[in-house]
Amino acid sequence: PFPHYEQMRAAAPVFQDDQSGSWHVFRYDDVQRVLSEHATFSSRMGGENPSGTGQLFAASLITTDPPRHRQLRSLVTQAFTPKSVDALAPRIAALTGELLDAMTTGGGSADLIRELAYPLPVIVISELMGIPAEDRERFKHWSAVVVSQTRTAPASERQDSTTSEMVEYFLALIDQRRSRPGNDLISSLLAAEIEGHKLTVPELLGFCSLLLVAGNETTTNLIGNAVLCLAESPGTHARLLDEPALLPQTLEEVLRFRSPVQSMYRVAAAETVLGGQRIPSGAPIVAWIGSANRDEQQFERAAEFDVDRNPNRHLAFGHGIHFCLGAPLARLEARIALESLLTRFPGLSVTPDAQLERMESSIVYGLKSLPVNWLPE
Ligand code: HEM
Repeated sequence: PFPHYEQMRAAAPVFQDDQSGSWHVFRYDDVQRVLSEHATFSSRMGGENPSGTGQLFAASLITTDPPRHRQLRSLVTQAFTPKSVDALAPRIAALTGELLDAMTTGGGSADLIRELAYPLPVIVISELMGIPAEDRERFKHWSAVVVSQTRTAPASERQDSTTSEMVEYFLALIDQRRSRPGNDLISSLLAAEIEGHKLTVPELLGFCSLLLVAGNETTTNLIGNAVLCLAESPGTHARLLDEPALLPQTLEEVLRFRSPVQSMYRVAAAETVLGGQRIPSGAPIVAWIGSANRDEQQFERAAEFDVDRNPNRHLAFGHGIHFCLGAPLARLEARIALESLLTRFPGLSVTPDAQLERMESSIVYGLKSLPVNWLPE
C-alpha cells in the first residue's frame, strides 16, 4: 500500500471516495487530528445499525465517545498499566520458551506465525480473561472474519454466522463467571459499577470481543513484521545480537514502518474543514495510520527502516483518548518473543524464495505465514 499512500499524500491528502462516500485522510498532521479530536471525529460505529461482527463492537471502548468512553476505560486501565503488565513477563517468557521448544521438534524450519506469533498473544489474553485453553482455537477463525470486514460494506452470511457464534460463546462465558467468579478480567467487569449501574450485556460483549479478538491479530502481526524487518536489514539483526537493549527502539521502528493497524474509522460529528476540504456532519472518515507513519513531513527518510530514529512519534497505537489500551502488553510480548528468538536462533532467517503472502485486509497489515529456518541449536 505504501506507494499508493505516497501518491495520495502528494496529490489528494484528504480525499472523498465517490463510491462509498468515505473521506480518506493520508497526512500525519491530519491523521493525528482525526484520531484525537474526539468532539469533531466521533468513534461511534457504522451509523445507528451496525451489521455483522460490528454489532459486537457497537458498545465497546473503541466505538464509544466521552463521557461513556472514559467510564468504561477506567474499569480496565488498571489491568493494563505497564506495571501490571510487567508482572506478566515471567509467564510470557515461559510460554515463549514452550512454544519455541515445540517449534524445534519439527526440525530446522517452521512457520513462525503459526508456531509463535499467533499462539503467544492468544494464550496470554486468554489467561488474563480466564478462558479455557481448549477454546483458543476458535479465536483465530473469529479474528480472521472480523478483520475481513469493512465498516461500510454489508456483512456476508459467513460474518453473520460468526457473529452469532461469538455472541453465544461469550454469553455462556459471562453466565459461567457470574455463577463462579474468579480472579480474571471478566469477573472483575461483572462486579464493576458505573454510577451505581452494572455494565449492560452489550457492553460486556463488547469488552470480550475487543480484548479477545482485536488485540491478538495485531500483536501477531507486530511479531511477524519484526522478523521480516530484521530479515531485510541484516545490519540491524547483527547489532541486536550484540546489543539486545536496542530491541525496544527496534520494535518502535517496526510499528512505524510496518504498522499492524493501517487504518482507523471515525464519523464527523459536525461539519469541519480538514486539509482544506469541507467534510459534512455524519461523513465516514478513514484515517490512514500506515500513511501517516510514512509521511516525509514528519519523518526524515520515511521510507527507510532506521532503528536509530529519534524521536519516533509514530501513530501505530493511535493518539489521544483511544490510544491503545494494550500497547504495554503488545510491546512486552513482542520484546520477549524477539529476545527469545535472537538468543535461541541467532542465525534465524526467512526461508529464501518463500512466497510471502499478506493478509487480505485494508485494516490490519501482516503476513499469513512466515517460513523461517535455522541451524540446529
Ligand atoms: C485501541 C493498535 C494490541 C486493546 C487501539 C488503537 C490502535 C491500536 C491504533 C486506537 C483505535 C482508535 O483510535 O480508534 C494496536 C496495535 C497492537 C495492539 C498496533 C499490537 C501491536 C492490543 C492488545 C490489546 C489491545 C494486545 C489488548 C489486550 C485495545 C483496546 C483499544 C485499542 C481495548 C481501545 C481503546 C479505547 O478505545 O480507549 N489499538 N493494538 N490492543 N487497543 Fe490496541
